[in-house]
Amino acid sequence: MNILPIFIVALLASFSHVNAGDFCVGDVSLPAGPAGYSCKSVAKVTVNDFVYCGLAAAGNTSNLIKAAVTPAFAAQFPGLNGLGISLARLDIAVEGVVPMHTHPAASEVLLVVQGTICAGFISSANKVYFKELNKGDIMIFPQGLLHFQINSGKGKAIAFVSFSSADPGLQILDFALFANDLPSSIVEKATFLDDAQVKKLKDQKDDDKN
Ligand SMILES: *[C@@H]1O[C@H](CO)[C@@H](O)[C@H](O)[C@H]1NC(C)=O
Repeated sequence: MNILPIFIVALLASFSHVNAGDFCVGDVSLPAGPAGYSCKSVAKVTVNDFVYCGLAAAGNTSNLIKAAVTPAFAAQFPGLNGLGISLARLDIAVEGVVPMHTHPAASEVLLVVQGTICAGFISSANKVYFKELNKGDIMIFPQGLLHFQINSGKGKAIAFVSFSSADPGLQILDFALFANDLPSSIVEKATFLDDAQVKKLKDQKDDDKN
């Protein structure tokens, strides 16, 4: 008996199995777990799952920080699911700032495409690395470290940032400290700030909401 045809069928079956693992477009109708979304059926995947046009438009910078972060993470761009990469667009108006924040799950690379940005991060040894960046410059922010971007030029600034995760996460330090539900007395103990300082910082957050 010739086993070659069976061998070829088995080989093709194993290849088609490999192909099914090429990507895992996220099914955003189901909740995501730590490993991301579950995969949308390959039969339903089209080229449009791998294209995202949401970063073409500027974000709205009419807010407290005069800046906008427009994400293309797995939730917005499900084609990224499982690939360990993502992007976002930063629009920073004159005098705007992306305040001190971390991405718990990803390192970041920033590319300035317009204007001038003073960007920096703080190592876990509390050493500061910051520099003024111009159009075409790129800077790295290692995973989990606190960092910021300030528009230090005379016009609006635009940058694109890429991440080593499809879901990098974002925690803004001031919101974490002063926009939480902890009683002020505990915030004061945990931060060494006095009552007036904590109330002032909490009010900033309320102004932003109003
Ligand atoms: C930008 O946001 C502000 C404040 O929320 C709002 O008043 C304004 O209409 C928005 N502009 C655009 C173009 O969406």
